[in-house]
Amino acid sequence: MFQAVAKVSSGRFCPCMGLFVRSNSSRTDQRGILANRVAVVTGSTYGIGFAIARRLAQDGAHVVISSRKQQNVNKAVAMLQGEGLSVAGTVCHVGKAEDRERLVNLALEHCGAVDFLVCNAAANPVVGSTLGASEEVWDKILNINVKAPALLLSQMLPYMEKRGYGYKMGWGLVGYGEPE
Ligand SMILES: NC(=O)c1ccc[n+]([C@@H]2O[C@H](COP(=O)([O-])OP(=O)(O)OC[C@H]3O[C@@H](n4cnc5c(N)ncnc54)[C@H](OP(=O)(O)O)[C@@H]3O)[C@@H](O)[C@H]2O)c1
Repeated sequence: MFQAVAKVSSGRFCPCMGLFVRSNSSRTDQRGILANRVAVVTGSTYGIGFAIARRLAQDGAHVVISSRKQQNVNKAVAMLQGEGLSVAGTVCHVGKAEDRERLVNLALEHCGAVDFLVCNAAANPVVGSTLGASEEVWDKILNINVKAPALLLSQMLPYMEKRGYGYKMGWGLVGYGEPE
């Protein structure tokens, strides 16, 4: 689906076949404070992640949207493209290595870079105290909320460092690099 979407050179975004859209709509500010920046947001097809993705795109970033369900990805991408924003999307269950790989590849192949990683996807299998939670519950919390963001960051950080500008945000881990 994403193979023939866009060609990128030297980190510049070149829309050509549809999933990324730049329109002349006044709602897309190509000169926004995030112009030519690339943001990857996990768990971004609805809720808080979707709002973050929309705002980053409204500020001029090219945004890669993702979540577990293809239909949610399609709906979110269609909605934001309909607003004239530059977005693409792919399925990515953050707990699956092959999905994380696909997410990184989409950002690099079609945007040429990564500047921001927002790890919004998280699992909340327990409401209330975790004391007494089963090992299975702890595995889920640690895999989705801690291990997956750390692995995603380690995959993307080399590309973020190349840009001299990187910001990673998540609900479990936070790190950033100032612009040079
Ligand atoms: N809402 C609150 O009051 C609140 C308070 C504190 C913290 N938080 C945290 O803030 C984040 C967003 O909250 P929210 O209320 O917006 O959540 P939400 O409405 O449940 O949205 C979750 C988003 O993440 C995706 N998602 C869920 N599990 C995923 C996984 N394993 N891998 C990738 N994507 C996944 C969902 O799409 P799919 O179903 O398609 O995967 C959806 O796009 C969550 O991490 C939550 O724990 C929320």
